[in-house]
Amino acid sequence: MFLDKPESHIMLALDTPNRKRSFEVLDETYDLIDAVKFNYPLILKEGLEIIREIKERYKLKVVADFKVADVPVTNNRIIELVKEVGVDVVMVHGFIGSDALLELKDIASNEIGIIIVTELTHPGGLEFTRNYSEKFAELCAFVDVYGIQAPGTRPDQVKKLREIVGPDKVIVSCGVGAQGGSFADAVDAGADFAIIGRAIYDAPSPREAVINFRKVKVEQ
Ligand code: XMP
Repeated sequence: MFLDKPESHIMLALDTPNRKRSFEVLDETYDLIDAVKFNYPLILKEGLEIIREIKERYKLKVVADFKVADVPVTNNRIIELVKEVGVDVVMVHGFIGSDALLELKDIASNEIGIIIVTELTHPGGLEFTRNYSEKFAELCAFVDVYGIQAPGTRPDQVKKLREIVGPDKVIVSCGVGAQGGSFADAVDAGADFAIIGRAIYDAPSPREAVINFRKVKVEQ
């Protein structure tokens, strides 16, 4: 499928300040993680091509966390652009609605998996997105896209959303590490991949940080 079967369950959020640091962190960790997730700051600084470069150099699956949230004509152009650099999965907001999602799915065809963001993990995520997170999970099942993002800081909610999307959809969970979410709790609640950024790339040894996260799962 779009992502390989989880092995370490770790999706590295590569929110490094520039390309030099990105390569340093990946040189240390690439063989221990399942996928790399990119977000706007690094891409706005270094350009979209860095995704292709990293995918080819490290042979890792790549996720564009671009939280696509516009009208279809613009959403669709974003999908075409990320397709060109080999993105495997793109993250989009559920509030664009089913018609926009269906168009995206059509453009992505079998080349890119779509993950719907359900609720954000910061306190403000409870203010608005929480009210719709179950609806977004239903939308994932209804429109039949690849999966959802669910808050790793709230394992009960991950569990609830897993029940809604069913066993075959992919769940990625943010908030593990720097925001206090537990890796083991998120995965046990039903997340296939825990998204981990600062707790890895800001650690004195990113490799050791990844090894320590992996041990948590093995020791269970
Ligand atoms: P950290 O450094 O917090 O990085 O491990 C998390 C990455 O995931 C992105 N992201 C989210 N982070 N709650 C989060 O904490 C969310 O709901 C969420 N959605 C995506 C974040 O932007 C960073 O790239």
